[in-house]
Amino acid sequence: MRKKLIIGNWKMNFNMHEASLYLHKLMNMLPSHRDVEVVLAPTILTLQSLSLQINRRIAKLAAQNCYWRDSGAYTGETPVAHLRGIADYVLIGHSERRYIFIESEKDIRLKVQAAIRNRIRPVLCIGETIQERTLGETKDVLADQLTSGLANVTAEELGEVVVAYEPVWAIGTGDNAKAIDVKKATQMIRRHISHLYGKKAAESVRILYGGSITPASAADYLAIDELDGLLVGAASLDAYQFKEIISKAHKG
Ligand code: 13P
Repeated sequence: MRKKLIIGNWKMNFNMHEASLYLHKLMNMLPSHRDVEVVLAPTILTLQSLSLQINRRIAKLAAQNCYWRDSGAYTGETPVAHLRGIADYVLIGHSERRYIFIESEKDIRLKVQAAIRNRIRPVLCIGETIQERTLGETKDVLADQLTSGLANVTAEELGEVVVAYEPVWAIGTGDNAKAIDVKKATQMIRRHISHLYGKKAAESVRILYGGSITPASAADYLAIDELDGLLVGAASLDAYQFKEIISKAHKG
C-alpha cells in the first residue's frame, strides 16, 4: 500500500528566520499523520538548520535540486551526497530547472541515479508544455521524459522513486489541471512505467500531481485512486493553507 505524500515546494522563498518561524508554526499545527507523509522543500541554504529543528515524525525535508557528482571542481553546485542525514527527498527535473536553467535529460537522468546511490529519494518531475498539450503530444512527452529520467534505475530501485506530474502550463498560473486530466495522466505514467519494468514494479512508484493546487482543489485530486499525493507550490507558503491541504489527504 503506497503512503500518501504531500510535498510543499517553497521555491526561492523564505530566509532562515522566516523558514524557522514557518516550521515552528507547522510543527505545532500538524499531528503525526501515520497515513500521510509530509515533506517540505526549502531553499538549500535553510535546509540544514531546518533539519535540526524539524520533528521527523511530523515532516521530512527535500532539496529542490542537487548535482550528481559527489565532489570536485563544480563551483556553486550541491552534491546529492551532502544531503545525507539532512534531506530524505530531492526534486529532480522540475520544469523551472528544465526551462529556466536549461537542464538536459542527461543531467536529470544522472541526478536520479546519484540520488538513489546516496539513498535520497528522487522526485522526478515531468510534464508537458502548453504547446505540446495543444498538439496532443502529452502522452509522448510523458513517456519520453520517463524513459529518459529512469534510464539508469533498476526495477529493485524503482520503489525509491516518486514521479510528479506537473504540467508546465499549470505551474504558478492559477490554471490547475482538471482532475479527470490528472487521472488520465497518472494512468499514462503508470502504464508506461509498467511497460518499462513490469506491472508489479510499477505499482511501487508513487505518483503526485502539482500545478496551482489550493485547499479548495486538493480534495478532487486526492480522490483519484491512482494518484498518491501532491506537490504544492504557492499554497505551501501559507502554513494554514498547507495544513488544510494535508488534512484532506488524511483518511479518518
Ligand atoms: P504552484 O502550486 O505555485 O503552481 O507550483 C507548483 C510547483 O511547481 C510545485 O513544484
